[in-house]
Amino acid sequence: MTTLTPVATKEDRFTFGLWTVGWLGRDPFGDATRAPLDPVESVHRLAELGAAGVTFHDDDLVPYGSSATERDKIIARFTDALSATGMTVPMMTTNLFTHPVFKDGAFTANDRDVRRFALRKVMRNIELAAELGASTYVMWGGREGAESDAAKDLHAAYDRFKEAFDLLCSFVLDRGYDIRFALEPKPNEPRGDIFLPTVGHALAFIERLEHPELVGVNPETGHEQMAGLNYTMGIAQALWAGKLFHIDLNGQHGIKYDQDLRFGTGDVKSALFTVDLLEGAGGTGPVYTGPRHFDFKPPRTEDVSGVWASAAGCMRTYLLLKERAEAFRADPEVAEALAAARVADLAEPTLSPGEGWEALAGSDADFDPEAAGARGMHYERLDQLALEHLLGAR
Ligand code: GCO
Ligand code: MN
Ligand code: MN
Repeated sequence: MTTLTPVATKEDRFTFGLWTVGWLGRDPFGDATRAPLDPVESVHRLAELGAAGVTFHDDDLVPYGSSATERDKIIARFTDALSATGMTVPMMTTNLFTHPVFKDGAFTANDRDVRRFALRKVMRNIELAAELGASTYVMWGGREGAESDAAKDLHAAYDRFKEAFDLLCSFVLDRGYDIRFALEPKPNEPRGDIFLPTVGHALAFIERLEHPELVGVNPETGHEQMAGLNYTMGIAQALWAGKLFHIDLNGQHGIKYDQDLRFGTGDVKSALFTVDLLEGAGGTGPVYTGPRHFDFKPPRTEDVSGVWASAAGCMRTYLLLKERAEAFRADPEVAEALAAARVADLAEPTLSPGEGWEALAGSDADFDPEAAGARGMHYERLDQLALEHLLGAR
């Protein structure tokens, strides 16, 4: 076992939201613990740490209510920082949650004038996304939900959600922008319950849209885990469906409020298998080719040095887990354990070429269910090997 000192470079395609390192540390019980960060400084610091790009909500860069001249000045200064550092903006998104106008949601607000205002806000920012070359536009519907089931006509809410996506897809198509949308599921917080709470709900919704090819998902580690779900299984289904358009990596300790911790904290073994999956699971599956995006919040206990330490930690942990996953896949004992567990056999179709149900139906004569039921799967040995690689014991 060698000492691992991975260093992040642009080739790793690590990206960070401006709102992540820029979080002031304000929570429902306490005031801000950090001063605002200049987005230009964030671009420079993240570039120095080895990131490839940044992402942002409209209001993260251009404060809500800025005049047109202020907006132009801010954007010019920001694009100068991008060219100076070679950083890109692969994803952008809209803040449809901070201003009180969005207290009852944006696309599913009961008030029609609010829904129309929200759509205009999104379209305005998509124009900037196209200018900056962002190819993914994230839609996180944090306020799209309710605290009371009596508050919403639930059928109409899904109709309005679809109407919003159909409109935005036709906007992008009519303008000829090379942009796809990624829906970000979350079960709750800030609303008591949120529409499209999990990857599965989002994938099913997308198929009802006029342009399903333009819409995928942006699953966040902690959001699936808040619902008690297996994140790696969720993103595997999105990859399988060709819908993993973007990803939000972070950490979460089980079913509780959204912690947005540094990547790798919380369920570290799950994080190992997340990285293994994104990197192609030892050549058995597709490699995720999009940016490795971190959406975390440096805890409010940290000063600005802790902010940069946590950002660097996200990338270093990803690279360490990638090395651990590669070591696991390259270990001859793991190969033997995988064979004993018949893991590769699942890739063999259940029917033989040319066989249909007729050939399969009929006699069980060749199969002994008692013997098959007595076969061990040997997963425990395999899982222990994964744990030992994770612990650096092999
Ligand atoms: C959260 C969300 C948000 C969104 C972001 C994009 O932690 O609840 O992840 O951070 O990802 O606002 O719109
Ligand atoms: Mn989150
Ligand atoms: Mn997120």
